[in-house]
Amino acid sequence: MSTKKKLRKMPIEYLWDGLVLEDDIFNHNGSVLLLPKGELVTEGKLKKLSNFSVEEKYVMVCEECYYNILSKANIPAEIRQKITENQTGYTEIKQNVGGIFHKASEDKEWFHNDEIEPVIQQISEKLNDVDPILIFSCINFPRPMDEGLQRHCLNVAFLNGLMGEWLNLPKEDIRLLVMAGLLHDIGKTKIPEEVLNAPRKLTKEEFAVMRNHPVFSYEMMEKGFDERVRLTARHHHEKMDGKGYPDGLAGDEISLFARITAVSDIYDAMVSKRVYKEGRLSLDVFDSFYKQKYDGLDMDLVMIFLKNMRKNFLNKKVIMSDKIIGEIMYIPPNDCANPIVKSGKIIKQTDDEWYCKEILSEI
Ligand SMILES: [Fe+2]
Repeated sequence: MSTKKKLRKMPIEYLWDGLVLEDDIFNHNGSVLLLPKGELVTEGKLKKLSNFSVEEKYVMVCEECYYNILSKANIPAEIRQKITENQTGYTEIKQNVGGIFHKASEDKEWFHNDEIEPVIQQISEKLNDVDPILIFSCINFPRPMDEGLQRHCLNVAFLNGLMGEWLNLPKEDIRLLVMAGLLHDIGKTKIPEEVLNAPRKLTKEEFAVMRNHPVFSYEMMEKGFDERVRLTARHHHEKMDGKGYPDGLAGDEISLFARITAVSDIYDAMVSKRVYKEGRLSLDVFDSFYKQKYDGLDMDLVMIFLKNMRKNFLNKKVIMSDKIIGEIMYIPPNDCANPIVKSGKIIKQTDDEWYCKEILSEI
């Protein structure tokens, strides 16, 4: 084994029958050579690998080999997404959130601040331990309709937590900001399903029903919840120009927490839209933020959000539209959709023909 090469975790599901290995494959801690360079991967060998790695579900490969396999692997985006979500612990938290939302909507008496604490703790741990780029890969994905609400709320909780860190807020404020993100839309559990998940434009009457959700969220959080968390939920649809709802507040009348949550809310809503080209999601949305395509946001906060997002995406590996691997070298602030990418000896700005298809994150 070459000890000089940096090894990376490769989920066994990413390998396929017929792959010829460009380098050695090792067990989960890199101590046992499982398949040597040049070996043809077969169904039988894949089965053996799975049996060998029952606990860990992944093998170790060198960095170059990892990105090569990823760029060639024909793994449906949904499967790759599922693996990422399982490995980061996102799936488990999402299920817990689903459970809380369900119970809260059925049993008003049960819904208390103390019941939420364990899941806030889980999210805070991930914010400390997981590379934000991995959190973004969990967030930036079109989601099944029936998971829409719990995923959206969890994503806003993560984004709020990151914003809290980027703004250097005190730890306790970040915790409350995460909670506010998680619960801002809980009032939607009171909205009839046919309105909430209508696969069409809402009628005027339905939209009026929908607009009640911030007040419902506020009212549901009666027991033990911090007033700042309640008010964030109530005011996350207010706009800086006073044209939002339900209270028509403007500018600084809207709390910092609510203004942050509005940015996180829009980002998650936009990246989840299926109309965007796969993998261009975040970069396109950054561009729209910069060009003020979303009304009523606090632009000072938007600029802090963009600055830190650009920082997080810098030097990340990407699969390009022609399937080769590139690395993001620079994201122009005024043209986030078209970063400068290095691929082999080529360094150039992306465009409509040659663009980033998928940002790669290491599990
Ligand atoms: Fe909302």
